[in-house]
Amino acid sequence: MISANARPYIDASVPVLREYGVAISTCFYARLFEAHPELKNIFNMANQKNGSQQQALASALFAYAANIDNADALTPVISRIVQKHVSLGIRAEHYPIVGHHLLAAIGEVLGKSATPELIAAWAEAYDALASAFIGEEKKLYASHQIEPGQLREMVVTHKKKESQTVTSFYLESVDGLPLPAFQPGQYISIARNVVALNLRQLRQYSLSGAPDQPYWRISVKREDKDEQGNPAGMVSNLLHAEANVGDKLWVSPPCGDFVMDKNIRTPLVLISAGVGITPMMSMLHGSLQQTPARHVHFLYATLDGHHHPLKAELAALSAFQKLPEQAAILTTHFAYATPTAEDRAANDFDQSGYLELDKLDSSLLPKNGDYYLCGPSVFMRIQRQALLDRGIAANQIRQEIFGPALLENLQ
Ligand SMILES: Cc1cc2nc3c(=O)[nH]c(=O)nc-3n(C[C@H](O)[C@H](O)[C@H](O)COP(=O)(O)OP(=O)(O)OC[C@H]3O[C@@H](n4cnc5c(N)ncnc54)[C@H](O)[C@@H]3O)c2cc1C
Ligand code: HEM
Repeated sequence: MISANARPYIDASVPVLREYGVAISTCFYARLFEAHPELKNIFNMANQKNGSQQQALASALFAYAANIDNADALTPVISRIVQKHVSLGIRAEHYPIVGHHLLAAIGEVLGKSATPELIAAWAEAYDALASAFIGEEKKLYASHQIEPGQLREMVVTHKKKESQTVTSFYLESVDGLPLPAFQPGQYISIARNVVALNLRQLRQYSLSGAPDQPYWRISVKREDKDEQGNPAGMVSNLLHAEANVGDKLWVSPPCGDFVMDKNIRTPLVLISAGVGITPMMSMLHGSLQQTPARHVHFLYATLDGHHHPLKAELAALSAFQKLPEQAAILTTHFAYATPTAEDRAANDFDQSGYLELDKLDSSLLPKNGDYYLCGPSVFMRIQRQALLDRGIAANQIRQEIFGPALLENLQ
């Protein structure tokens, strides 16, 4: 809660943040890394370069200011950040450091407009948010029975190419002890030393396998250098090239709140594109195991059959579901943007071109469905809007973003 004195300053700064949010975040990170270069081992330095982290922090600041009294809007945002922070090992003692440099950045960018009263109001707001985060993060670390920042050493027991760009890694406990349970849809952070940067980097990978296995599986897309000249992805390339069977990796506990609501029994609708298939595969396995009578619709968009990871696994689940004595629990729909001649001969996809939900039969997109989306942000924006246009309520749709969330729903 913010005091009555601070409230008008916070309210008045919403439009200012809208205008200067990215400048403040950029200035903040420059100051932070100058004073604490060791924090570069925690932050994603590619997000710093491609601008997405600056947007995430700016959005969070704005979202907090705009929704300061709107716990309903803020709670899910805090939950997502807390899960992310715990997967990264953020500690209580980091908060004053970040707060100090954030206030200094507000002061530097706003200049004379940053009156002592405005800075004091933001100090109060930051402390309130920081306390909420620290409290929630402490609980989450305790529930995982780890100290902040503690990682688990795991060994790669199997490595499998799943498509032209995606490879799966099967990870098992080094000490042979059973792995903690995870909920389908959750991710782990993987730590990797990047020699070129002389830094450790953490990246998140959704668990793509069934929840009841003695291993955790991640399926990693190799991020190649792109046509715009952006460099190849650091960690995904290192994993593809260097993480082999027998090698050890340091990983976080499973985190994330993109999980199925166990109380819902209406049809589960999983809509994904590209490597966004990974949490969906885990949810599919989880649903078939835990609620075998529940209908699942699995819609997936990709370029072509060469870019369709985990296809054989999905086909095996589908075939099992189609045995004569089984009810048809699983329905799939595959959209290939540019199917190859081989795909056409095999005839194992449902449509060519982009996935366009407005053209699909309503049996695939039931009104009472429980919807989950994962894929590139443009894909998710289009599908989400198409679902809303079909009369699906916003609270029936959840989504996972494979990058810093931009909190658009709060604007
Ligand atoms: C919750 C969550 C779940 C995820 N699950 C999966 C999953 O299951 N499978 C999966 O493959 N991925 C997943 N990801 C994405 C994954 O965490 C990584 O972001 C991805 O592997 C890329 O990491 P990288 O180190 O290879 O690339 P990075 O080095 O982080 O680069 C990322 C992008 O930034 C660009 N970039 C880098 N430097 C610059 C620069 N100087 N200028 C401009 N652009 C630059 C690169 O070209 C690249 O496109 C998930 C992410 C999240 C947040
Ligand atoms: C009240 C203060 C804070 C706010 C509002 C905040 C907000 C956010 C947000 C919005 C994200 C993006 C989450 C997502 O991916 O969906 C994020 C990620 C992150 N935060 Fe925080 N955070 C705070 C404090 C801290 C502190 C104290 C640290 C520790 C140094 C920290 C380190 C990180 C890191 C490393 C990431 C991941 C970013 C990346 O890898 O690109 N944050 N935070």
